This record gives sequence, structure tokens and C-alpha cells, in this order.
Amino acid sequence: MTLEIQNVSKKYDRNKYGLKDFSLTINKGILGLLGPNGAGKSTLLKMIATVSTPTQGNIILNKNNIVKDANYMRKQLGFLPQDFGVYQNLNAFEFLKYMAAMKGVGGKNLNTKINQLLNGLNLMDAAKKPIGSFSGGMKQRIGIAQALLNDPKIIIFDEPTVGLDPEERVRFRNLISELANDAIIILSSHIVSDIDTIADEVAVMKNGTLITKGHQDAIIEKVKNKVFEISIAKENYQKFKEQHIVISTNRKTEKLLVRYISDQPVENSIQQIANLEDAYLYLTKAS
Ligand SMILES: Nc1ncnc2c1ncn2[C@@H]1O[C@H](COP(=O)(O)OP(=O)(O)OP(=O)(O)O)[C@@H](O)[C@H]1O
Ligand SMILES: [Mg+2]
Repeated sequence: MTLEIQNVSKKYDRNKYGLKDFSLTINKGILGLLGPNGAGKSTLLKMIATVSTPTQGNIILNKNNIVKDANYMRKQLGFLPQDFGVYQNLNAFEFLKYMAAMKGVGGKNLNTKINQLLNGLNLMDAAKKPIGSFSGGMKQRIGIAQALLNDPKIIIFDEPTVGLDPEERVRFRNLISELANDAIIILSSHIVSDIDTIADEVAVMKNGTLITKGHQDAIIEKVKNKVFEISIAKENYQKFKEQHIVISTNRKTEKLLVRYISDQPVENSIQQIANLEDAYLYLTKAS
């Protein structure tokens, strides 16, 4: 199973591109799509999900051009849009039944399937409650459940962990990992910790273009031996920030503990083990 995005552009306005000449090949497993706000993540995912069409370029799934043959994608797609709205008056069970009917999913196993999903997403207690009464995290989880009703082979989740508490994040991770043997899964986020423990590969994008794609280790390699920590006086921080890529600061009583990236560390810095967050911030801030 292969999904090829070939030189895809999306032009929203005369001078406004959501995506620009973007190419990426995606194989089975979990791809984490990382990028700051406005990078073009949703623009890309909507085109893969065939709810938006490229201005230019092609998207090929297993040799089928889905820009021309959207149904080929739709038949095997599970999609959670970023702005997923739900029907407030239906309860969770009714809503999944409704979505199943719209997707043409039926059969005698449907109720079992719905119960499995409600269980897997910890919504069993809420099965008979109207969705209008759900918390944000519960709404997000029912959105995830509807995307999985048809046992999709291409699963696209745009910011799936928004609103999920730590316990639900772990549950989500486990659920997704189980599906990854047999499907292409794309998860977007602007928060590294949402995807770093789960993604087989990571793609980093910014300004509608791909900055890098690969295994996490290969991406981290880009900042290897460049991450340092130093304690500086608060009044010196502004100047320091202008000269280095700062990853984080930690307020101590008198001083600031600063984690930063540099080819030429200042005196008394202590080298740190680089992680994906360092690499992500380096790649999206520096370029
Ligand atoms: N319908 C639209 N009309 C005009 N411009 C748009 C439209 N949708 C998105 N854009 C612009 O395209 C760019 C990419 O937006 P997109 O929503 O794809 O980013 P994103 O990476 O998903 O961001 P976020 O993390 O905030 O969800 C942004 O500059 C955005 O303003
Ligand atoms: Mg988005």
C-alpha cells in the first residue's frame, strides 16, 4: 500500500498558497505530520481525504489517481477533520449508527462493531447520552470512533489528540498502534509529544512545504551535538535569544536555565541529548 503525493499545490487566492509543490510518499504504518499553525497540514489532509481538490499535482493511492477517482479513496478512508462537528441531539450509539448508514456500513455485526469502538474509546458509559452534553475530549473521541466504523485502510486524523487528557492519549495511542499493521495512518499535530511515541515516521512542514521526512532518529541526527544548556542572568536573556535558537527556558530564582541550539555554544554550556522537539523547533524556526 502506497500513497504518493506528487507536486501538489493548493492556491487559495491570487498570491496565497496553502500548499506549494508538495511531494511525499507514504507507506503502511503511522506518519506523524508536524508543523506550526498555518503550515498547511489541514490543507494537505483535506486533499488526501478528497474533500478538497489540488490546484495542481496528483495524489496516487496504489496506482489510482484519486484526484480523478475520489471514490477509490473514499471507499477505504477514515477521516477525522480538524473541525469535526457532531449532531448534538443523538446519543453516541445513535450517532455511530447514523454515520454507519451514511458510509454504507451495515450487516449483523454493526452493533458489535459500534460497541467495540465505544469501548475502545472509553465512551461506553456515555453511549446513551446526547452528544450535546459531551465534554470536548469526549466529542473528539466520538469523532475518532466514526472514522473507524468502516475498517479503513487509510486513516487520516487531523489533530486527533486536541482536548484529550493524558490517560485518553495513552488509550488513543494503543488503539492506533493496533490498527497500524494493516493501514496507512496519518496523524497531524503541532505538538511533538503528541506523536513522537507513536509515529513510525515523521514529516515536518512549514509554509506549505515539506522540510523533512524520515525516521525520528534521522531527524534528531540533524541537531546531534548542537543542543546545550546554560544558566544565565535574566537581564542577559534578551540578547542571548537574538543570537541563539532557544528551545526552552526554566526559571530558577536568580537565573534562567536555557536550552538552546548552536554550532558554537557559549562558554560554560553543558551539552544535552537531543530529542525530536529540539529538531522540530530547530527546523521550523531556522528555515
Ligand atoms: N479556505 C481557505 N481560504 C484561504 N486561505 C486558507 C484557507 N484554508 C487555509 N488557508 C490558509 O492556508 C494556510 C495553511 O492553512 P492550514 O489550515 O492548512 O494550516 P494548518 O497547518 O492545518 O494549521 P493549524 O495548525 O492552525 O491547523 C494558512 O496560511 C491559512 O490561512
Ligand atoms: Mg490544521
